[in-house]
Amino acid sequence: MGRLWLCLFILAALLGPAAAQETMKIKIWAQPPAPTKYHHLMLICEATSDHGPQEFLWEKEGSPVPLQKGPYSILLIHSFNETHVGTYTCTVTSTQGRAVASYTLWMNDLSGSAFVFPQESKTAHVQVLLELVQPLHNFTVCLRSFTDLTRPYSLFSYATKTHSNEILLFKPKPGQYELMVGDKALYFTVPITVGESEHVCFSWESSTGIVGFWFNGKPWPRKGLQNGYTVGVPAYILLGQDQDSFGGGFDATQSFVGEISSVYMWDTGISNSEVRAAMNDSPIQTPIFGWRNFLYRIVGEVYLKP
Ligand SMILES: *[C@@H]1O[C@H](CO)[C@@H](O)[C@H](O)[C@H]1NC(C)=O
Ligand SMILES: *[C@@H]1O[C@H](CO)[C@@H](O)[C@H](O)[C@H]1NC(C)=O
Repeated sequence: MGRLWLCLFILAALLGPAAAQETMKIKIWAQPPAPTKYHHLMLICEATSDHGPQEFLWEKEGSPVPLQKGPYSILLIHSFNETHVGTYTCTVTSTQGRAVASYTLWMNDLSGSAFVFPQESKTAHVQVLLELVQPLHNFTVCLRSFTDLTRPYSLFSYATKTHSNEILLFKPKPGQYELMVGDKALYFTVPITVGESEHVCFSWESSTGIVGFWFNGKPWPRKGLQNGYTVGVPAYILLGQDQDSFGGGFDATQSFVGEISSVYMWDTGISNSEVRAAMNDSPIQTPIFGWRNFLYRIVGEVYLKP
């Protein structure tokens, strides 16, 4: 009996690594990571190392016929709509073997709703769930906030493992916005509003470092910082707290209290008319994520309310 177990053990030990060598590793990623309704979307099936010529079979769960089969690693959806929601699998076959990966497409339209942050907190925030794979040379962030706080607070915080303020949208005091790129700050003076929500957009372009800022749809004089910089990935992106470390290091005295809505991010610059479109939750340009399809995780006390 003991011998038999020993034999099986040796056999498993011999076969194990051999089998592992044969397996090819693949993954699916989406571009843009959060698809927007009636905008295009690509699902990209990628092997983590080179395995020579490959064949890609794309299938959708519940669909009797394959969507696509051939040498193409990309599945293109021209105009994303409800019918495209579901789980997709990509099966890659090469001389090295076979591998399967799956990816779920969802649609979570938050238009007409806002996140309510009811009280000062050291933990409460909304994490934007998406995996950015490409570093950013241009970006725009827009959002609407509604609060009567007069102390400093953080609205949007994008941290990487090496830069906790890779992108930050912060309000140090009434009448002032602080924008950060790669840990460097820039300030914009705005009117002090009471009892009104404030819509802001903030864009940055690496080649010039020029920062655009729009307050309630109006462009402010452009300034600049971090010319030539690249915004890194992966990122932990959140609303309502300021990260002093990747996904943490929060300070209750900088936490947001009130409502945040209409959050969008693009990997491009933005025009005045696009800013106004985003204010009305009807973006023309495809965002990397946005309010019309927002996948998030609530941590602590935050509520999504109409
Ligand atoms: C969704 O897209 C499919 C094709 O990709 C199209 O046939 C269908 O009419 C669209 N549905 C809606 C509601 O737009
Ligand atoms: C960034 O924006 C500039 C100017 O708008 C453009 O020339 C450049 O190609 C963009 N870079 C990327 C990587 O999209």
